[in-house]
Amino acid sequence: MILVVGAKGMLGQDLMTLLGSAARGVDLEDVDITSLESVQKVLFSIRPRIVINAAAYTDVDGCETNPDLAMQANGEGVAHLAMATSEIGAKLVQVSTDYVFDGRKGSPYLEDEPTGPLSVYGESKLAGEMNARFNPDYLIVRTQWLYGVNGKNFVETMLRLATEKKELAVVDDQIGSPTWTVDLALAIRALVEKDCRGIYHAANTGFCSWNEFARAIFAESGIDMRVNPLATKDLGRPAPRPLYSTLDCGKLVRDTGFQLQPWREALKNYLKLRRL
Ligand SMILES: NC(=O)c1ccc[n+]([C@@H]2O[C@H](COP(=O)([O-])OP(=O)(O)OC[C@H]3O[C@@H](n4cnc5c(N)ncnc54)[C@H](OP(=O)(O)O)[C@@H]3O)[C@@H](O)[C@H]2O)c1
Repeated sequence: MILVVGAKGMLGQDLMTLLGSAARGVDLEDVDITSLESVQKVLFSIRPRIVINAAAYTDVDGCETNPDLAMQANGEGVAHLAMATSEIGAKLVQVSTDYVFDGRKGSPYLEDEPTGPLSVYGESKLAGEMNARFNPDYLIVRTQWLYGVNGKNFVETMLRLATEKKELAVVDDQIGSPTWTVDLALAIRALVEKDCRGIYHAANTGFCSWNEFARAIFAESGIDMRVNPLATKDLGRPAPRPLYSTLDCGKLVRDTGFQLQPWREALKNYLKLRRL
């Protein structure tokens, strides 16, 4: 049996839907990953074969003001899961982020390239990657720019702003791959089915800026909106973000035969599903 930790989160809910009766889900009301005792209690009683950790402190700007909380949830929490899964002989799947990179390379990152997080969130997620290794049967899946029907995300923010405004300024100097949580869940399932270990990158194919992504959201939704360019430095967010952090997903394709669809197709499918 597969246990999804963070089952009520944006990715967690899509994992639960995809895995169906093969999975059980827990969230903060059942287990607090910042406590080893809490993690052991749940894992020792459920005794899953595989644990997928989709729980995290994901407020990137909030992490800058709450670094201890970030490290407890995203760093130490993963150590607790790694130790407890190791003790029961289960595999640990840890979801991580492109924010472990500094974004200065200028081309897609491979799994084994040097990391260099710019933010507290990125540092805490990198600590989580290190700590996942307490279980020799670990799988780290790095992804980026997630959106899904069950969470706060960029697509939903743009669609909400469209009900209030006719013009927006959106960052045009950060490049990445918007990724639908349904496609990420499919990639995680493919990796688990092949019993892959180590680090993998998984994101929808192709890339764009947030500004291009916003324009695509409005175009695909038939919304007339003027989207002006904005520089990251002028947005003034507390956490620095990597400017170019696309992920090379070739290893995922080679080892599983699964490739995530192009980001614009994923967006169209998401919007179609959302309208149902
Ligand atoms: N969102 C993105 O753009 C993005 C990009 C790259 C990577 N990722 C990674 O992808 C994964 C899933 O992200 P997501 O956006 O789906 O996350 P999310 O919607 O924020 O869900 C995270 C879940 O974890 C729970 N949680 C928080 N602290 C916990 C704790 N101490 N113990 C147990 N559960 C706890 C949360 O509960 P509460 O809601 O009650 O706090 C929430 O249900 C995370 O590892 C994230 O770092 C996300």
